Amino acid sequence: MPRLLHLDSSARTDSFTRRLGAAFVRAWRLNGGGEVTHRDLAIDPPPPISEGWTSLCDTLLREGITEAATDHYAQAVRTEAERRAWAVTEPLLAELLAADVVLIGAPMYNFGVPAALKAWIDQVTFPKMVLAPRRFVVLSARGGAYGPGTPREPFDHQGRYLLDFFHGHYGVEDAEVISAELVNSLSDPGLAGRLPQHLDSAAAALARAVELGTELATVPATTSADRTLAKEG
Ligand SMILES: Cc1cc2nc3c(=O)[nH]c(=O)nc-3n(C[C@H](O)[C@H](O)[C@H](O)COP(=O)(O)O)c2cc1C
Repeated sequence: MPRLLHLDSSARTDSFTRRLGAAFVRAWRLNGGGEVTHRDLAIDPPPPISEGWTSLCDTLLREGITEAATDHYAQAVRTEAERRAWAVTEPLLAELLAADVVLIGAPMYNFGVPAALKAWIDQVTFPKMVLAPRRFVVLSARGGAYGPGTPREPFDHQGRYLLDFFHGHYGVEDAEVISAELVNSLSDPGLAGRLPQHLDSAAAALARAVELGTELATVPATTSADRTLAKEG
C-alpha cells in the first residue's frame, strides 16, 4: 500500500489548507491508502540550516554522492557540526523518502511559502536528488487571486515555486497544485464583491482534493523504504 507524508504549515488552526488536507486524507483512508505520517511544521518548525549542513552538502557534491537515501548521505557526515546538522535533517528526510505521495499544505505568505515550510525544504533537499516516482500535491490558499491570466499571476512565488522546485528541478513528474483563491473576500470589505468567486474556487479545490486523495490511495508503493525491505527480504 502507498504511504503518505502530509505536511501542514498554516499558523491557523481553522485554515483552508488544513481543511483541504483533512479532506484529502479522509478520501485516502476511505479508499485503502496506506500509512499516513503527519508533520505539523507550524507547531514544530525545523530550524534554519546550519554551517554543518552546508559543509555536509559540499562533501556530497565533491564526492558525487547523489542517491536520495539516508545511508548514502550519512557517509558525508564527518565533523561534530555535521553530526549535529544531520541529526536534524535525517528524521525529516527519512519521512520524505519513505513516502510515495507527499501532500503539502502551503498557504501563501507574502507571495511565498511560510518560513517553516521553506526551512523544511532547505533541510531535506540535496543536490542532484531525484524525488520521482513520488507524487506531490500542494494544497494552496491565498487571500487574493493569482491564477492564470490574473494581474497578480507573476507574484505567485508560492504554488509556482513549489511546482518549479519539485517538478522542474527534482524530477517529480506528477505534481499538482490545488488552490483556494480570494480567501480574504471573507474578511476584507474591499473584496466582498469577489466572494462568489472565492466560494467557487474553494468548492472546486475541495472537490479536487477528495478526487486526488481517492485516486492516489491506490498508486503502487515504490519508495526507497520498500526497496530496502525487498533487499532485506
Ligand atoms: C503572514 C501572512 C501573509 C500573507 N500574505 C499574503 C499574500 O502575500 N498574498 C495573499 O494573497 N494572501 C496573503 N495572506 C492571506 C493567506 O494566504 C490566506 O489567509 C490563506 O487562507 C492562508 O491559508 P490558511 O487558510 O491555510 O491559513 C497572508 C496571510 C498571512 C497570515
